[in-house]
Amino acid sequence: MARVVLGMLGLGTVGSGVVKLLAQHKHLQLKKIAVRDLAKERTTTTTCPITTDVNEIIDDPEIEVLVEVMGGEEPALTYIKRALEKRKHVVTANKEVLAKHGPSLFALAREKGVTIFFEASVAGGIPLISTIQRGLGANQFKAVTGILNGTTNFILSNMEERGLSYETALAEAQALGFAEADPSADVDGHDVAYKLSILAALSFQRFVKPTDIYRQGIREITPEDLALAKEFGYRIKLVGTARSTTNGKETSTEEKSLAVRVHPTLVPLSHPLAAVSGSNNCILVTGDAVGEIIMVGPGAGSLPTASAVVGDIINLESALKLPDFASYFQPSITSQWSNTASSDDWVSPYFLRLSVADTPGVIGTIGTIFGNHKISIQSIIQRGVKDGRATIVILTHDVREGDMNAALTNLKECPFLDSVASAIRIYKAG
Ligand code: NAP
Ligand code: HSE
Repeated sequence: MARVVLGMLGLGTVGSGVVKLLAQHKHLQLKKIAVRDLAKERTTTTTCPITTDVNEIIDDPEIEVLVEVMGGEEPALTYIKRALEKRKHVVTANKEVLAKHGPSLFALAREKGVTIFFEASVAGGIPLISTIQRGLGANQFKAVTGILNGTTNFILSNMEERGLSYETALAEAQALGFAEADPSADVDGHDVAYKLSILAALSFQRFVKPTDIYRQGIREITPEDLALAKEFGYRIKLVGTARSTTNGKETSTEEKSLAVRVHPTLVPLSHPLAAVSGSNNCILVTGDAVGEIIMVGPGAGSLPTASAVVGDIINLESALKLPDFASYFQPSITSQWSNTASSDDWVSPYFLRLSVADTPGVIGTIGTIFGNHKISIQSIIQRGVKDGRATIVILTHDVREGDMNAALTNLKECPFLDSVASAIRIYKAG
């Protein structure tokens, strides 16, 4: 079998897993690994030389494939660009770089006749990218939605199932190697936004800037929210969605409108997303021909992610034998950035937890304000009356997000309101 010579940037959680898996694939020769700190104690044993000089890899003409598992925007972006310039193929797990610079990187790869493989960048060990790119290539996609971050799913599951505090659950996720170097990327939803940007590019041939994606993380989700959601038959998940908003109407690519967003969502306990716990991910892909498919599996961690990285290397190795391999494996990604639909037009039911004064007329006033904004209440309860204060929990029917925001603004002007403690969307298929 042909030998492929690899150089790797990074020997952390993912890089260590790659080293372990490559030991089972002797024809894939890992020639050198670059790290930041040579003195760092490592649990991974490898006979492969380790350096802090990335140039020893990028400038080595024998190395055909750069495996980038160091993460972050810079200097990873510069290294990837330099490798492409030198006509090396790139295998990367770096969703941040792809989401922020995908159009120019794929254009550069095309120009140089090389490829970028990035299965590990979304949903860890789940072969989602190749499924969308190749397995479902016959479809027009309507939506890609699901749980795309292992760390936050681990935190929410463990807060609910084991009663862990947010901080303890996050510390466990970090110790297990799921979390990003800066966990704000996970808990504030940036990581999911990066993944949605990549998924939008693959499913709808349109890159969306991560900064244009509506984003809300899980920091404000409390044990009280999790318990109340369960009482009403829901579980709270961080759900990311990229959805065509043209409702099946024939439109040109330029006219296609995309709703792309990530935020905590109440999912019915009977829905497959509600059953996904720990660091697992779950993605629902809806295509016009296939209907809806569901993929579930490990979304983070050393070996699951390395499975995707090494799978890419093996696929790349096979592809190198094809006469026109680079064009075959180039995703059809435009170099254009596209806009997203206004988040005001998103429609879903809502779960609200309000802290109020326990005085006459409160529920009547809330009903009037909601009625003025075309919001219909599905269910309302009052709880925890103490020292003249109470918690009111409301579930609404479908609401346009702009109308809900206007109603909440009016509500906040009411003297009886202490706070809108939570306003969380309820899952709506579509
Ligand atoms: P990590 O554990 O923090 O490892 C990063 C590695 O890169 C370390 O070995 C570090 O060197 C090296 N490094 C960092 N900056 C460097 C520089 N300037 N020059 C040379 N080496 C440098 O990160 P990770 O969790 O493996 O994640 C790596 C990438 O995979 C990220 O893009 C991440 O988003 C992605 N990813 C991670 C997972 C996961 O479950 N962890 C899953 C999917 C995708 P030292 O060891 O010397 O510090
Ligand atoms: N930090 C990411 C997560 C790694 O928790 O999902 C996988 O992309």
